[in-house]
Amino acid sequence: MRSKIIIANWKLNGNWSFNEEFASALSKGLKEIDLKDRQIVICPPNVYLQQLNGLLLEKSIFLGGQDLSDELSGAYTGEISGAMLKDFGCRYVLVGHSERRARHFETTDMVVRKAVNAISAGITPVICIGETLEQRQKGLMKDVLSDQIQALVVGMTDQIDSIVLAYEPLWAIGTGETATVEEAQEVHTWLRSEFEKVNPAIAEKLPIIYGGSVKAGNAAELLQVADIDGLLVGGASLVPHEFLSICLAGL
Ligand code: 13P
Repeated sequence: MRSKIIIANWKLNGNWSFNEEFASALSKGLKEIDLKDRQIVICPPNVYLQQLNGLLLEKSIFLGGQDLSDELSGAYTGEISGAMLKDFGCRYVLVGHSERRARHFETTDMVVRKAVNAISAGITPVICIGETLEQRQKGLMKDVLSDQIQALVVGMTDQIDSIVLAYEPLWAIGTGETATVEEAQEVHTWLRSEFEKVNPAIAEKLPIIYGGSVKAGNAAELLQVADIDGLLVGGASLVPHEFLSICLAGL
Protein backbone atom coordinates (compact mmCIF):
# COMPACT_ATOMS: atom_id res chain seq x y z
CA MET A 1 0.00 0.00 0.00
CA ARG A 2 1.48 3.34 -1.05
CA SER A 3 1.30 6.14 1.50
CA LYS A 4 0.07 9.62 0.53
CA ILE A 5 2.25 12.71 0.09
CA ILE A 6 0.84 16.23 0.29
CA ILE A 7 3.20 18.86 -1.09
CA ALA A 8 2.89 22.64 -0.73
CA ASN A 9 4.56 24.52 -3.58
CA TRP A 10 4.76 28.10 -2.40
CA LYS A 11 6.31 29.28 -5.68
CA LEU A 12 7.40 32.97 -5.34
CA ASN A 13 5.52 33.58 -2.10
CA GLY A 14 6.23 33.74 1.61
CA ASN A 15 8.06 36.12 3.91
CA TRP A 16 9.60 35.92 7.35
CA SER A 17 6.42 36.61 9.37
CA PHE A 18 4.05 34.65 7.10
CA ASN A 19 6.35 31.64 7.37
CA GLU A 20 6.29 31.84 11.17
CA GLU A 21 2.50 32.04 11.30
CA PHE A 22 2.09 29.26 8.75
CA ALA A 23 4.51 26.92 10.54
CA SER A 24 2.87 27.55 13.87
CA ALA A 25 -0.67 26.93 12.49
CA LEU A 26 0.41 23.77 10.69
CA SER A 27 2.36 22.36 13.62
CA LYS A 28 -0.57 23.04 15.98
CA GLY A 29 -3.10 21.58 13.56
CA LEU A 30 -1.14 18.39 13.01
CA LYS A 31 -0.06 17.82 16.60
CA GLU A 32 -1.13 14.43 17.93
CA ILE A 33 -3.00 13.59 14.73
CA ASP A 34 -2.44 10.10 13.35
CA LEU A 35 -1.48 10.88 9.77
CA LYS A 36 -1.30 7.17 8.88
CA ASP A 37 2.09 7.40 7.10
CA ARG A 38 0.94 10.50 5.22
CA GLN A 39 3.86 12.85 4.58
CA ILE A 40 3.50 16.63 4.40
CA VAL A 41 6.13 18.55 2.43
CA ILE A 42 6.61 22.32 2.32
CA CYS A 43 8.55 23.78 -0.63
CA PRO A 44 9.25 27.43 0.17
CA PRO A 45 11.63 29.72 -1.75
CA ASN A 46 15.19 28.55 -0.98
CA VAL A 47 16.09 31.55 1.15
CA TYR A 48 13.50 30.47 3.75
CA LEU A 49 14.54 26.82 4.02
CA GLN A 50 16.68 27.40 7.06
CA GLN A 51 13.98 29.39 8.85
CA LEU A 52 11.35 26.73 8.18
CA ASN A 53 13.74 23.92 9.06
CA GLY A 54 13.85 25.39 12.55
CA LEU A 55 10.07 25.88 12.77
CA LEU A 56 8.51 22.72 11.30
CA LEU A 57 9.20 20.31 14.08
CA GLU A 58 6.32 17.83 13.67
CA LYS A 59 7.74 14.50 12.60
CA SER A 60 5.53 14.09 9.52
CA ILE A 61 6.46 17.48 8.00
CA PHE A 62 9.38 17.63 5.60
CA LEU A 63 11.05 20.32 3.53
CA GLY A 64 11.49 20.43 -0.22
CA GLY A 65 13.18 22.67 -2.76
CA GLN A 66 11.31 24.06 -5.78
CA ASP A 67 14.17 23.40 -8.20
CA LEU A 68 17.85 22.47 -8.34
CA SER A 69 20.68 22.88 -10.81
CA ASP A 70 21.43 20.30 -13.45
CA GLU A 71 25.09 20.89 -12.56
CA LEU A 72 26.83 19.77 -9.40
CA SER A 73 29.03 22.83 -8.76
CA GLY A 74 31.00 25.49 -10.58
CA ALA A 75 30.42 28.73 -12.45
CA TYR A 76 26.61 28.69 -12.57
CA THR A 77 25.45 32.00 -11.14
CA GLY A 78 22.24 31.90 -9.16
CA GLU A 79 21.91 28.11 -9.08
CA ILE A 80 21.47 25.75 -6.14
CA SER A 81 22.72 22.17 -6.03
CA GLY A 82 21.09 19.08 -4.59
CA ALA A 83 23.86 18.84 -1.99
CA MET A 84 23.06 22.39 -0.84
CA LEU A 85 19.35 21.59 -0.52
CA LYS A 86 20.31 18.51 1.47
CA ASP A 87 22.42 20.70 3.79
CA PHE A 88 19.28 22.73 4.49
CA GLY A 89 17.23 19.71 5.43
CA CYS A 90 15.38 19.00 2.18
CA ARG A 91 14.03 15.53 1.65
CA TYR A 92 12.31 16.34 -1.67
CA VAL A 93 12.79 18.69 -4.60
CA LEU A 94 10.40 19.62 -7.41
CA VAL A 95 11.88 19.03 -10.84
CA GLY A 96 10.58 20.17 -14.23
CA HIS A 97 7.60 22.15 -12.99
CA SER A 98 5.74 23.49 -16.04
CA GLU A 99 6.46 27.06 -14.92
CA ARG A 100 10.18 26.30 -15.10
CA ARG A 101 9.88 24.39 -18.35
CA ALA A 102 8.05 27.41 -19.86
CA ARG A 103 9.82 30.39 -18.29
CA HIS A 104 13.32 28.93 -18.03
CA PHE A 105 13.23 26.77 -21.13
CA GLU A 106 13.99 23.57 -19.24
CA THR A 107 14.28 20.68 -21.64
CA THR A 108 13.48 17.06 -20.80
CA ASP A 109 17.26 16.38 -20.83
CA MET A 110 17.76 19.02 -18.16
CA VAL A 111 14.86 17.61 -16.16
CA VAL A 112 16.48 14.16 -16.22
CA ARG A 113 19.90 15.58 -15.21
CA LYS A 114 18.29 17.49 -12.35
CA ALA A 115 16.47 14.40 -11.14
CA VAL A 116 19.66 12.31 -11.27
CA ASN A 117 21.54 15.03 -9.35
CA ALA A 118 18.81 15.11 -6.70
CA ILE A 119 19.01 11.36 -6.19
CA SER A 120 22.79 11.40 -5.93
CA ALA A 121 22.46 14.09 -3.25
CA GLY A 122 20.04 11.86 -1.32
CA ILE A 123 16.92 13.85 -2.19
CA THR A 124 13.76 12.50 -3.83
CA PRO A 125 12.90 14.34 -7.06
CA VAL A 126 9.21 15.09 -7.58
CA ILE A 127 9.15 15.15 -11.37
CA CYS A 128 6.32 17.17 -12.88
CA ILE A 129 4.72 16.24 -16.18
CA GLY A 130 1.56 17.48 -17.87
CA GLU A 131 -0.13 18.55 -21.08
CA THR A 132 -1.50 21.92 -22.21
CA LEU A 133 -5.18 22.48 -22.96
CA GLU A 134 -4.43 22.69 -26.66
CA GLN A 135 -2.59 19.36 -26.61
CA ARG A 136 -5.47 17.76 -24.72
CA GLN A 137 -8.08 19.16 -27.10
CA LYS A 138 -6.12 17.94 -30.10
CA GLY A 139 -6.04 14.43 -28.60
CA LEU A 140 -2.27 14.60 -28.06
CA MET A 141 -2.30 14.18 -24.28
CA LYS A 142 -0.99 10.63 -24.19
CA ASP A 143 1.70 11.35 -26.80
CA VAL A 144 2.95 14.32 -24.80
CA LEU A 145 2.96 12.47 -21.48
CA SER A 146 4.46 9.40 -23.06
CA ASP A 147 7.40 11.45 -24.43
CA GLN A 148 7.96 12.97 -21.00
CA ILE A 149 7.90 9.54 -19.35
CA GLN A 150 10.15 7.95 -21.98
CA ALA A 151 12.82 10.58 -21.36
CA LEU A 152 12.74 9.67 -17.68
CA VAL A 153 12.81 5.93 -18.23
CA VAL A 154 15.72 6.14 -20.67
CA GLY A 155 17.69 8.79 -18.79
CA MET A 156 17.23 7.46 -15.27
CA THR A 157 17.37 3.69 -15.84
CA ASP A 158 17.70 2.02 -12.42
CA GLN A 159 17.06 5.27 -10.51
CA ILE A 160 13.48 5.45 -11.73
CA ASP A 161 12.41 3.67 -8.55
CA SER A 162 13.56 6.67 -6.49
CA ILE A 163 11.23 9.32 -7.88
CA VAL A 164 7.79 10.74 -7.21
CA LEU A 165 5.84 11.53 -10.38
CA ALA A 166 3.54 14.56 -10.30
CA TYR A 167 0.83 14.82 -12.94
CA GLU A 168 -0.05 18.49 -13.31
CA PRO A 169 -2.20 19.26 -16.36
CA LEU A 170 -1.16 22.78 -17.33
CA TRP A 171 -4.74 23.87 -17.93
CA ALA A 172 -5.54 23.17 -14.28
CA ILE A 173 -2.64 25.12 -12.75
CA GLY A 174 -3.77 28.34 -11.11
CA THR A 175 -6.95 28.41 -13.18
CA GLY A 176 -9.45 27.15 -10.61
CA GLU A 177 -10.20 24.37 -13.07
CA THR A 178 -9.40 20.95 -11.63
CA ALA A 179 -9.38 17.72 -13.55
CA THR A 180 -12.49 15.82 -12.47
CA VAL A 181 -11.87 12.79 -10.30
CA GLU A 182 -12.67 10.59 -13.32
CA GLU A 183 -10.24 12.49 -15.57
CA ALA A 184 -7.48 12.36 -12.98
CA GLN A 185 -8.14 8.69 -12.27
CA GLU A 186 -8.01 7.81 -15.96
CA VAL A 187 -4.67 9.57 -16.49
CA HIS A 188 -3.07 8.23 -13.29
CA THR A 189 -4.10 4.66 -14.07
CA TRP A 190 -2.77 5.03 -17.61
CA LEU A 191 0.51 6.54 -16.33
CA ARG A 192 1.01 3.59 -14.00
CA SER A 193 0.29 1.17 -16.83
CA GLU A 194 3.01 2.86 -18.91
CA PHE A 195 5.52 2.20 -16.12
CA GLU A 196 4.23 -1.37 -15.82
CA LYS A 197 5.46 -1.99 -19.35
CA VAL A 198 8.95 -1.08 -18.16
CA ASN A 199 8.96 -2.73 -14.74
CA PRO A 200 5.81 -3.92 -12.92
CA ALA A 201 7.45 -3.90 -9.50
CA ILE A 202 8.53 -0.27 -9.88
CA ALA A 203 5.11 0.72 -11.28
CA GLU A 204 3.38 -0.76 -8.25
CA LYS A 205 5.51 1.26 -5.84
CA LEU A 206 5.73 4.52 -7.85
CA PRO A 207 3.98 7.41 -6.09
CA ILE A 208 1.95 9.39 -8.66
CA ILE A 209 0.54 12.60 -7.23
CA TYR A 210 -1.90 15.10 -8.74
CA GLY A 211 -1.58 18.89 -8.97
CA GLY A 212 -3.72 21.64 -10.45
CA SER A 213 -6.21 23.81 -8.51
CA VAL A 214 -6.36 21.43 -5.56
CA LYS A 215 -8.46 22.93 -2.75
CA ALA A 216 -9.84 21.87 0.60
CA GLY A 217 -13.11 21.21 -1.23
CA ASN A 218 -11.75 18.64 -3.70
CA ALA A 219 -8.79 17.11 -1.84
CA ALA A 220 -10.68 14.27 -0.15
CA GLU A 221 -12.28 12.96 -3.34
CA LEU A 222 -8.99 13.14 -5.24
CA LEU A 223 -7.16 11.30 -2.43
CA GLN A 224 -9.77 8.52 -2.51
CA VAL A 225 -8.67 7.48 -5.99
CA ALA A 226 -6.51 4.37 -5.79
CA ASP A 227 -3.88 5.63 -8.24
CA ILE A 228 -3.63 9.13 -6.77
CA ASP A 229 -0.91 8.94 -4.15
CA GLY A 230 -0.94 12.53 -3.06
CA LEU A 231 -1.41 16.15 -4.04
CA LEU A 232 0.82 18.98 -5.21
CA VAL A 233 -0.79 22.20 -4.05
CA GLY A 234 -0.01 25.75 -5.20
CA GLY A 235 -2.36 28.61 -4.30
CA ALA A 236 -4.29 26.78 -1.58
CA SER A 237 -1.04 25.92 0.23
CA LEU A 238 -0.64 29.61 1.09
CA VAL A 239 -3.77 29.70 3.24
CA PRO A 240 -2.84 27.93 6.47
CA HIS A 241 -6.32 26.64 7.45
CA GLU A 242 -7.04 25.53 3.89
CA PHE A 243 -3.73 23.70 3.55
CA LEU A 244 -4.29 22.07 6.92
CA SER A 245 -7.70 20.78 5.73
CA ILE A 246 -6.01 19.37 2.62
CA CYS A 247 -3.38 17.64 4.79
CA LEU A 248 -6.15 16.03 6.85
CA ALA A 249 -8.54 15.32 3.95
CA GLY A 250 -10.02 11.84 3.94
CA LEU A 251 -8.14 10.63 7.01
P1 13P B 1 -2.40 25.64 -8.11
O1 13P B 1 -2.73 24.70 -6.99
O2 13P B 1 -2.32 27.08 -7.71
O3 13P B 1 -3.25 25.39 -9.31
O4 13P B 1 -0.89 25.28 -8.57
C1 13P B 1 -0.58 23.97 -8.85
C2 13P B 1 0.89 23.86 -8.98
O5 13P B 1 1.47 24.36 -9.92
C3 13P B 1 1.61 23.15 -7.91
O6 13P B 1 2.92 22.88 -8.28
